[in-house]
Amino acid sequence: MKYRTHTCGELTGKDIDKEVVLSGWVARVRDLGGLLFFDMRDRYGKTQVVTDQDSPLAKKVLDLHMEDVIRVTGKVRSRPDGMRNESMITGEIEIDLASIKWLSKSASLPILVEDEEEPGEELRLRYRYLDLRRKRMQHNIMLRHKALQSVRNYHDEIGFYEIETPTLIRSTPEGARDFVVPSRIHQGKCYALPQSPQLYKQTLMIGGFDRYYQIVRCFRDEDLRSDRQPEFTQIDLEMSFVTEEDIFRHTEGMMTRLVKDVLDREVLHGFPQITYENAIQQYGSDAPDLRYDLRIKQVNELFNDSGFKAFDSVVTKGGSVLGIRAEGKGSLSRKQRDELEKLGRAEGLAGLLQLPVTEANFTGIIGKLFSDERQTKLKETFDAEPGDLIMMAAGDTDETLDILGRLRRLLAKRWDLVDPDELRFCWVINPPMFEKLPDSDVLTAVHHPFTSPFPEDEELLQTNPLKVRSRAYDLVLNGVELGSGSIRIHDPKLQERVFDAIGIDKEEAHRRFGFLLEALKYGTPPHGGIALGFDRIIMLLAGGNSIKDMIAFPKTNTAASLMDGAPTEIDDLQWSELGLSVKTKK
Ligand code: AMO
Repeated sequence: MKYRTHTCGELTGKDIDKEVVLSGWVARVRDLGGLLFFDMRDRYGKTQVVTDQDSPLAKKVLDLHMEDVIRVTGKVRSRPDGMRNESMITGEIEIDLASIKWLSKSASLPILVEDEEEPGEELRLRYRYLDLRRKRMQHNIMLRHKALQSVRNYHDEIGFYEIETPTLIRSTPEGARDFVVPSRIHQGKCYALPQSPQLYKQTLMIGGFDRYYQIVRCFRDEDLRSDRQPEFTQIDLEMSFVTEEDIFRHTEGMMTRLVKDVLDREVLHGFPQITYENAIQQYGSDAPDLRYDLRIKQVNELFNDSGFKAFDSVVTKGGSVLGIRAEGKGSLSRKQRDELEKLGRAEGLAGLLQLPVTEANFTGIIGKLFSDERQTKLKETFDAEPGDLIMMAAGDTDETLDILGRLRRLLAKRWDLVDPDELRFCWVINPPMFEKLPDSDVLTAVHHPFTSPFPEDEELLQTNPLKVRSRAYDLVLNGVELGSGSIRIHDPKLQERVFDAIGIDKEEAHRRFGFLLEALKYGTPPHGGIALGFDRIIMLLAGGNSIKDMIAFPKTNTAASLMDGAPTEIDDLQWSELGLSVKTKK
């Protein structure tokens, strides 16, 4: 038996009068008094099938249930005038039903596939196979497939090797917690699942493969949110004999090609580069969204003895007065301005001073206290025009920058300043090498400890490590960190000094990363690379807001798989073979 001569998304006016066979899912049945219609669906589309109420097949059609899998035969005919659907490929035609056969029946459905309304997340993940049949998921998975091919073709064409690295590795935590796998053969010992192939790709450079890439699964036991999964996919790459600019050019080539291949849209090469310091100071974020302005400006110099005590005193104590100009928002009503103030306070500001800009002087406290000259200076600093609104806040510099960064994002949303179709890439470069762990004086690497410091900052490694800049970079798209990378350390002595700066002594370094330190001794080419979050790329290209929708079988925010029930308990025998037992069983 032939299951199909065509897919359900294929037949058009050119096929009129053909005898065809289709197989697929029952999508919709309609009884229009006199005529019975139903749609058949597969991943290619939908086709309408019709029969007469008086036909011997009518009873079978009325017995169809949503999501039954059927095979039909029939003749393609033109839909009557006024019944054509131009938005569908198959919208000109319908099938005059000749026979119908059930290939399998569907039980009553826990979620509706054809419903416009999205089912709840728990049901979607529990019955993922039904959820995957929905149009949006079919689309996302198709985009993902196209992106995978694009990345592979791009790298293959320019001589990169795709090299797989192991999944069971030595535990070398990179910032998150490792997932570990107990060994049966080596009792009491564990493998870890890789947080990324970082050390392996560097070892591949030492192994002489100067152009490596891999589309690879990574595992991190960390707090999850809409753009984080415990297992996720990276486009991971590394190159030898390169500088930052080579990595930028390569990555920009990959991303512009990917956007072209997947969305058929053009993005220009030459993504802007912003230093980490500027990103924080102007956008209050290390992942700035460049689709709108609302940039942050520091105006401390206007608050030395200005008479406005609340702000002057913050500056005297070493804090900052920071502000944002909102174009055309000078006309906000009193009520709207009160709401803005509330929003600012809810985010943690002590207050939000709002100054509508006009041709005349400012009104209110600033109008009263500031000289004409100071007022003009204030307007100039913000490039403010009549009709704009200047918002200002004072406080601890880092904290206020962070809050204004969040406010900036909230306001862009509230005022609808974001064009959802725009793709604005940028590089954020030269972040500091180290930062303090929260509530402690212990240093940790901002990127990872294999990142090269700026050569001119190396002497600060032991004396003033917080001032050392690193040769790391992030690729940011529309305010989301897509990827991170760096030029690596290729000198074992420098590597030891960096470990030392973060409190990893020789012994510990050798215990944890000894194999890399040893490999570095045997002729290591200068090298660098980057890893891009593949699920996040698809999320942004598909216009979604959760990476779960971009992954066929994702986990919940509590790292559970609702479809297969993982993680599960294992048998006592499995524990005992591992030489392990569990203390508490729920
Ligand atoms: P990093 O840890 O910054 O760098 O990761 C690179 C990119 O991977 C994505 N990503 C995630 N995506 C989904 N869920 C997660 N839990 C998750 N964690 C990270 C992000 C991130 O930008 N080895 C280095 C790269 C290098 O130096 O070459 C690394 O893994 O998009």
